[in-house]
Amino acid sequence: MKLLKKVMAVGLASTMALSMAACSGGSTETTAAETTTAKAEETTAKAEETTAKEAEEAAETTAEEVKEAAGDFDASNVKVGISIYKFDDNFMTLYRNELERYLVEDLGFKAENITIQDGKGDQAEQSNQIDNFITSGVDVLILNLVQASSAPQITDKCNEAGIPVVYINREPDVEEEDRWAAEGIKATYVGCDARQSGTFQGEEILETSNGGDINGDGKISYIMIQGDPENVDAQYRTEFSVKALTDAGKEVEELFMQRGDWDQAKGQQLTQDALTLFGDDVEVVFCNNDAMALGALQAIEAAGRTVNEDIYLVGVDALTEAVQNVLDGKMTGTVFNDHIAQAKSAADIAVQFLQGEDVAPVNMVDYTKVTTENAQEVLDALK
Ligand code: BGC
Repeated sequence: MKLLKKVMAVGLASTMALSMAACSGGSTETTAAETTTAKAEETTAKAEETTAKEAEEAAETTAEEVKEAAGDFDASNVKVGISIYKFDDNFMTLYRNELERYLVEDLGFKAENITIQDGKGDQAEQSNQIDNFITSGVDVLILNLVQASSAPQITDKCNEAGIPVVYINREPDVEEEDRWAAEGIKATYVGCDARQSGTFQGEEILETSNGGDINGDGKISYIMIQGDPENVDAQYRTEFSVKALTDAGKEVEELFMQRGDWDQAKGQQLTQDALTLFGDDVEVVFCNNDAMALGALQAIEAAGRTVNEDIYLVGVDALTEAVQNVLDGKMTGTVFNDHIAQAKSAADIAVQFLQGEDVAPVNMVDYTKVTTENAQEVLDALK
């Protein structure tokens, strides 16, 4: 958030500088008749000074506004229960840290009132944690389910206890989401539409000099390293990355497709297996996330292949290491899965529930394509 504020302040500063320049252009013209060019320059310098100050003030106001967004709502005594499907997940670790930071620093929740549990990839364990949260009387729950298919039972339990639920990252099915709206249940989902990230991955391949057909045989031969299919993100990214190619009229050949469960070590092993089986025939490595792409890169380098020369590699998430690889030409591209905006949205929506407001059943945040062109910018923003 700090960085977003920073980006906002910079954005504001340049917008203001532009409009002030335009204004001062006008006023300088009038004064120009009476004053010298030197005076006009002085005016511009002063205008810029004012702009910087105003931008700074604007950034401060933004922080205040965030707090005001909670209205009269006093977060200091509110208890929040959070369960993450497993702590041992690179992306969800970034998300979890940002969520906690935003709740405490920007919304005024007390750190000791926020309990975050590790679901350890075990739905039974996570369901127990949720039962305990309910018994202990939390006011709101933010849940990253191990199995999204458990949403109906969990939602019913929370609803009976009068506790609103914000599901994140692993989307329950549409039928369940429709039920919340139809029955007025205080449950909602915050995430990203993974079809968009898959499409962006495919586009990144199409945008390469040979459109993904490195050996010029008229077809794009790819391997697909999938995430855990329990998360719809894995299914959609798999489908839509290839769909972007076929929609562009390309012929494709799937050489290999295996689930790597979002895990770097599995990504490495599977890519190594695929390269052993299919060697130079592999032109594109699609990974459903960056952790697996980092593993794939290790296997690619160990096999003596060179990304962007004789093989392409794309991931999703924009982990710092992956964005650096894009910048260094070791990955063709990635897609920013905006954990900052998702964490903010999940927390803001939890507050809306607590204030008795109506909330839409589905709340989506946009993905951003990351290529060599904007990798530095994304990296700076992530720091
Ligand atoms: C991310 C993965 C992460 C998964 C966890 C996905 O949206 O891209 O990196 O492992 O969520 O469910």
